[in-house]
This record gives sequence, C-alpha cells and structure tokens, in this order.
Amino acid sequence: MAPTPLPSATLKVLIESPRIAQRVRELGAEISADYQGRPLRLVGVLKGAWIFLADLIRAIRLDDVTVDFLGLASYGAGAETSGEVRITKDLDMSIEGVDVLIVEDILDSGVTFHYLFGVLSARKPKSLRSVTLLDKPSRRVRPLRADYVGFTIPDAFVVGYGLDYAQKYRHLSDVCILGLPT
Ligand code: IMP
Ligand code: MG
Repeated sequence: MAPTPLPSATLKVLIESPRIAQRVRELGAEISADYQGRPLRLVGVLKGAWIFLADLIRAIRLDDVTVDFLGLASYGAGAETSGEVRITKDLDMSIEGVDVLIVEDILDSGVTFHYLFGVLSARKPKSLRSVTLLDKPSRRVRPLRADYVGFTIPDAFVVGYGLDYAQKYRHLSDVCILGLPT
C-alpha cells in the first residue's frame, strides 16, 4: 500500500520492505563470516540508522556483539546539507582496541562520514569499518566508500526505514523517493 505523503509532497517507493529484509540478511551473513571469532562493536549513527541497525544486529551470527550509538547532525531542517557536522550524543563506551563497525543509513556527499571516521580513528580502535544501507555515489565530494553497501541508489532524496525529511517519514517500511513541490 502506498504511504500517504504530507500535503503537496509525493512519495514513490524505491525499495520495497521485503527486498530490504533480504539484503539485510545477506549483509548480516557477510559480516558474521568476516568477524568470525572476534568481538564486534556496532556503532549506530543516530537517528537515521536505528531501524537498519535493529534489523542488522539480529541478522548477525556472532557470540560477542555489542552496540553503541553516536548522535550526529549534518543537515538543517530540510533536504540540503549545511556542510557542518556536530556530535549531538557521544558514545557511552571506549572503542580503544575494539573492532568497530559504523552503521550508517546513507552515504551521500561523504562529509558526515569523513568527519566521523576522523573522530573515531583518533580513539584508536583495533579496526574501523563501515556498513551503509544506501549509497549515493554520484553525490560524493569526498573520495570514500563503505566496506559493506546495501543498495546503490540514484541521486534522489529518499525517506523511510529510518531516513527522514524534517524528522518525518522515518516510520515507513519501504525506502521512498520524496518529491517536493518546486
Ligand atoms: P553526507 O554528509 O552528505 O554524506 O550525508 C549523510 C547524512 O545526510 C545521512 O546520514 C543522512 O542523515 C542525511 N541524508 C543524506 N541524503 C539523504 C536522503 O536522501 N534522505 C535522507 N537523509 C539523507
Ligand atoms: Mg538525517
């Protein structure tokens, strides 16, 4: 069933929920194989990655998986980046000597990720890798890539499955393209 948009905005389904679930299971299997026998710390980037992380962690088959969250804000109220990143909530636990996997909702310009990678590497984790549900490589201003990518998508503004526009639409089960009136 098509979700109801806010007045004057349109929503078009890009990735349906069953496809997301299937891909998350695959990512979980890949990550489990790569980290076999090692403790793993997932670091979820709030708020966009929380739904993805909740599904991903249950698809990971390892004995020792822990989770922590980091709050970052890179956007103002709307769809355009302000170019400025700040920490709104820091990690609760130290990551020194820990195998860390950053869990992101979407890799867009790369500005947020570049900042995050810098901050976390300085804390001397044993290893630092990343998984992103969505990747928009066409928008990149920093030359970087995630170690695990769910879906590569075209240059469109998407919402749902945790991703928002002005804090709305996070609750949609599908990833949808948001069309705003011009
Ligand atoms: P970047 O710094 O441009 O890579 O942006 C990364 C962050 O911007 C993501 O973690 C999202 O919170 C947000 N963002 C980028 N593109 C979208 C989008 O299409 N929909 C919703 N949020 C987005
Ligand atoms: Mg966001």
